[in-house]
Amino acid sequence: MAEKNHPWYMNAVFYEVHIRAFCDSDGDGKGDIQGLISKLDYIKDLGVDCIWILPIYPSPLRDDGYDIADYYGVHPDYGTVDDFKQLIEETHQRGLRIIADLVLNHTSDQHPWFQESRSNPESKYRDYYVWSETDQKYRDARIIFLDTEKSNWTYDEKAGMYFWHRFYSSQPDLNYDNPEVRREMRNVMDFWLEMGIDGFRADAVPYLIEREGTSCENLAETHAILKEYRQHLDINYEDKVLLAEANQWPLDVWHYFGNGEEFHMGFHFPVMPRIYMAIGKGDATPIHWIMSQTPEIPENTQWCIFLRNHDELTLEMVTEDERQWMWNKFAPDPRMRLNLGIRRRLTPLLDNDPRKILLANALLYSLPGAPIIYYGDEIGMGDNIWLFDRNGVRTPMQWDDSLNAGFSDADPEDLYAPVINSEEYSYKKVNVASQIQDPDSILNKMRHLIAVRKANPVFALGNYEFRSEEKTECLVILRHYKDVNVLCLMNLTDQKQTLNLDLSALINKRMVDLLKYETYGMVQTDPVKFEVDPFDFAWIRFD
Ligand code: NOJ
Repeated sequence: MAEKNHPWYMNAVFYEVHIRAFCDSDGDGKGDIQGLISKLDYIKDLGVDCIWILPIYPSPLRDDGYDIADYYGVHPDYGTVDDFKQLIEETHQRGLRIIADLVLNHTSDQHPWFQESRSNPESKYRDYYVWSETDQKYRDARIIFLDTEKSNWTYDEKAGMYFWHRFYSSQPDLNYDNPEVRREMRNVMDFWLEMGIDGFRADAVPYLIEREGTSCENLAETHAILKEYRQHLDINYEDKVLLAEANQWPLDVWHYFGNGEEFHMGFHFPVMPRIYMAIGKGDATPIHWIMSQTPEIPENTQWCIFLRNHDELTLEMVTEDERQWMWNKFAPDPRMRLNLGIRRRLTPLLDNDPRKILLANALLYSLPGAPIIYYGDEIGMGDNIWLFDRNGVRTPMQWDDSLNAGFSDADPEDLYAPVINSEEYSYKKVNVASQIQDPDSILNKMRHLIAVRKANPVFALGNYEFRSEEKTECLVILRHYKDVNVLCLMNLTDQKQTLNLDLSALINKRMVDLLKYETYGMVQTDPVKFEVDPFDFAWIRFD
């Protein structure tokens, strides 16, 4: 059922790729753009619509590329700008789209703007960054990389002053009060959009502007700048998307949609840990609660929902008690914890239990929003908590059981990170080639889930209603769009559950199990009884 009259991103499924980790075409041990091109058919066959690639720009890689030293180039490890043009073309030829990171808030300290800024007080670049004689300003702003940074100010010997940074001290914040900076970033957007990219995932947008006496997050001045960028996009381009990375409460993220005049999409951060909580506790309450805190968003804007990404599983948007519970349950080893989060992948978090992995995905797809799948999670890849920072969830993609998991021809010693070779998650067992052959593999089940979700736009476009809220062992959601109703039944526990649902509003409709392609009876006035196996789920459409 194709759905017209809606922008493409409304009913899209996204796939997040780290090029370094995906496929190495030239045997240097690092993934590259040509490697990704060679795997586009795999991505297409997954059934997704749009690829989001992590930063590919020249960078000293102190924050894996989120520290940019040149906004107009491609890191030599990954290839060239021409390779990137080819990537866009080949992506489009397959009917896929591609978005990239737009890192607005900060640059690398190696960026020529910063080099000039710190060393030459007369240069126009001095005012490109946020300098201060003291480190006592903006004391109400929290520190984000808590495990490494003690302050948001770092003293620079060359400048003889402190510079402001919300992330690593190697990532000075740009000064968005300076119109020149705002113009520079507009030029950066134009460069990639004119090349044909379909939009941006805009990094760390809450922090553009600083004001004394505030948390320096979500300020009105920041929104005004973001609206300018959106206006620029609307005037000059068609069919592009801007996705906001704002790790905030839904009511705060709501402002980033700005009446449809700011971002087209925004990540829904707080629902994510609550999906783990719900499955971990066998209790739907956390999902009911966070959705009750989630406002309606303007027409043609969309939430982006996800289970994992390239960062730690952030626990910023939970209470102190909930965080402790999550840490105890999902990160018992202190090494699994990082900042306010957990540096583990989806599959180990869910005990490598295919039932829970598929349930978590089905739960995600049952919620309003456009889902993002993190590369490797579709085959149940493991992690390596012993690697530095968040690198343990960025290990090489496991294509087959050959040397280096089919990721690279390099000497294993030369890989940018070791492939996962633990007993439970070894690439010899967990890989694309073997899962493609197996109809019951996670990969094939994920493909099926994605296909069914996409064929039923009610999931992306419809409203939702929780049912049977008192029976918290199950999450029951009725999705509704035009004349289509789909009931999503999820058993969050390890016990069989029985549900008796009053569906009298749907009387005389035939019940069709979308995932099993089975037809049940008609809805009558009496409550309809459903039995759901442990950690199982069903999507029932009423025809
Ligand atoms: C959010 C990105 O997802 C993360 O990887 C990065 O470290 C920070 N923003 C800083 O750019």
